[in-house]
Amino acid sequence: MATIIGNVCCSHVPAIGGAIAKGLQQDPYWKPFFDGFPPVRDWLAKARPDVAVIFYNDHGLNFFLDKMPTFAVGAAPEYRNADEGWGIPQLPPIAGQQDLSWHLINQVIGEDFDLVTCQEMLVDHALTIPMALLWPDQKWPVRIVPVCINTVQFPLPSASRVYKLGEAVGRAIRSWQSDARVLVMGTGGLSHQLDGKRAGFINKDFDLQFLESLEHDPKWATKYSIHELVEKTGTQGVELVMWLAARAALGEGLVRKVHANYHIPISNTASGLLALAPA
Ligand code: DHB
Ligand code: FE
Repeated sequence: MATIIGNVCCSHVPAIGGAIAKGLQQDPYWKPFFDGFPPVRDWLAKARPDVAVIFYNDHGLNFFLDKMPTFAVGAAPEYRNADEGWGIPQLPPIAGQQDLSWHLINQVIGEDFDLVTCQEMLVDHALTIPMALLWPDQKWPVRIVPVCINTVQFPLPSASRVYKLGEAVGRAIRSWQSDARVLVMGTGGLSHQLDGKRAGFINKDFDLQFLESLEHDPKWATKYSIHELVEKTGTQGVELVMWLAARAALGEGLVRKVHANYHIPISNTASGLLALAPA
């Protein structure tokens, strides 16, 4: 059976792609952000995942407002990104792990989640930037299964529903007949709001409590409704539900913190990074 080696969750901001392309990792604005990643890369080099299941939200590249699935899973042989504007360079295509995609889809639909299955799927900055941060040479050592959760067009799934999806995905991975080592990633958040009267809104206290909760009390944020999460974290801060899904996939056993980083701001976003492993 497959083994889940842990979580890496981090923020995704298009400007990070621009900074990577321009080699700005040592620039004073960017350094505190990029400095978070080497300890996580060192851990990944030892933990040797072959597969990454990635919870993320598409922002209009693959799904637009005319067709917006609540939960969608990729089952494609490979994933490409495309021009999203923003000047973000496109990355080399990333191979899919189709056997796990279909196993996961069968298991999770078998647990009464209504997933959209995607045999073709473009992936946007929410998936590609975390990949480029974890593997800067862009020679991907993992095949991937993207799991897209709508945090763009209301109504959004509740945090507790997303947590339950993550638990079901974790059970599916653990029941996959394979000796693969699986990393579960979540991308988005932490607090940020890009538009409206509260544009620029950041809530450091909430973010730090959320980071802390993932280690010891992972269901903590599920007590909030989506509207409460918008109030506390900003319209786009609700992307942090991806971290809940990823954490839920680890299951109920104890976890240990491998590394964390928190830095304000990257563009309009409070950027977070958290790597967890089973204790
Ligand atoms: C920003 C943050 C996001 O999560 C995103 O998807 C796009 C932009 C930002 O802070 O600029
Ligand atoms: Fe986003």
